[in-house]
Amino acid sequence: MAEIGKNIDFTADLLFKGKLVAIPTETVYGLAANALNEKAVLSIFVAKDRPFFDPLIIHLPSIESIDKYADLKDVRLQKLAKIFWPGPLTLLLPKKEIIPDVVTSGLEQVAVRVPNHPFTLELLKKINFPLAAPSANPFGYVSPTEPIHVNKQLGDKIEYILDGGICSIGLESTIIGIEDDKVCVFRLGGLALEEIENVVGRVELRINDSSNPKAPGQLKSHYAPKKPLYIGNFDDLIKLNSSKKIAIICFGEENFSNNNYTIFNLSKTKNLQEAALNLFKYIRLADESDADVVLCEKLPNEGLGRAINDRLKRASAV
Ligand code: TXA
Ligand code: MG
Repeated sequence: MAEIGKNIDFTADLLFKGKLVAIPTETVYGLAANALNEKAVLSIFVAKDRPFFDPLIIHLPSIESIDKYADLKDVRLQKLAKIFWPGPLTLLLPKKEIIPDVVTSGLEQVAVRVPNHPFTLELLKKINFPLAAPSANPFGYVSPTEPIHVNKQLGDKIEYILDGGICSIGLESTIIGIEDDKVCVFRLGGLALEEIENVVGRVELRINDSSNPKAPGQLKSHYAPKKPLYIGNFDDLIKLNSSKKIAIICFGEENFSNNNYTIFNLSKTKNLQEAALNLFKYIRLADESDADVVLCEKLPNEGLGRAINDRLKRASAV
């Protein structure tokens, strides 16, 4: 198991030495390494069992620090960066030579983000390199929102987890880039579409659904628990699974006739922020429960509900 602590200098030291550490962000915990050290970056892929064709996001302390690593020339993206950084927004930008190909899987663009967590911002200011950091979970599994989640799944692969408490958003960042001169969303996430459109007008959704996507993290099956997870109408799903032990992930009212189910309510008051915060934790708890199947319903397709529905859909794909 890894040590869990709040020592930022020690974390920086390990990173300077080319080691992996888990770091807190407002979205999910990241598995971080020096983005300029190819060997260290390679060890991220090995620890996560992640295919090399799936590129990584680099994390920087400020908008001003970007110039050395990527071009933030597009005025629309600049505007988004100024408003939403630090925050749950990742921009796809033309990369500069200094970024190793292993970070971008050979692509010409690099994904960049300024995370909004005081410990990680302090850490990023102490070091003189960006941090490459995917979510700190084995490839294809649910992202961690607490240090203990990281320790359970990757604890034997890393030395240290920087403990920044529970992530305040709980969903990965929204990924935005330019394609065909249009602002496009490549992954729905912790920054709602409505907020982005308020700044740059209508954007295009280029969320990939295929099993061989262009942005590889958008694989059809991702964020998947080990137990089968089904989405739909509860009455129908319950009938279909009546012979099994059932865990339910719901939102709002709980009108279930049978009280043998293990129920995880994302938000009794139908608050989408609260639901985002609980989503990955509840998928984990349902997976660890004694239920045979996990049944879920779709949330309203607005605000963070869109990203939550996207994650549920990918968690359910087989
Ligand atoms: O909130 C987040 O974004 C978290 C925290 C730790 O920052 N990170 C995260 O990283 O979710 P990861 O690796 O789990 O997901 C990154 C996604 C993947 O879907 C990957 O394919 C996509 O970003 N991506 C990274 N670089 C890209 C690039 N150059 N072009 C297209 N997609 C890219
Ligand atoms: Mg991930």
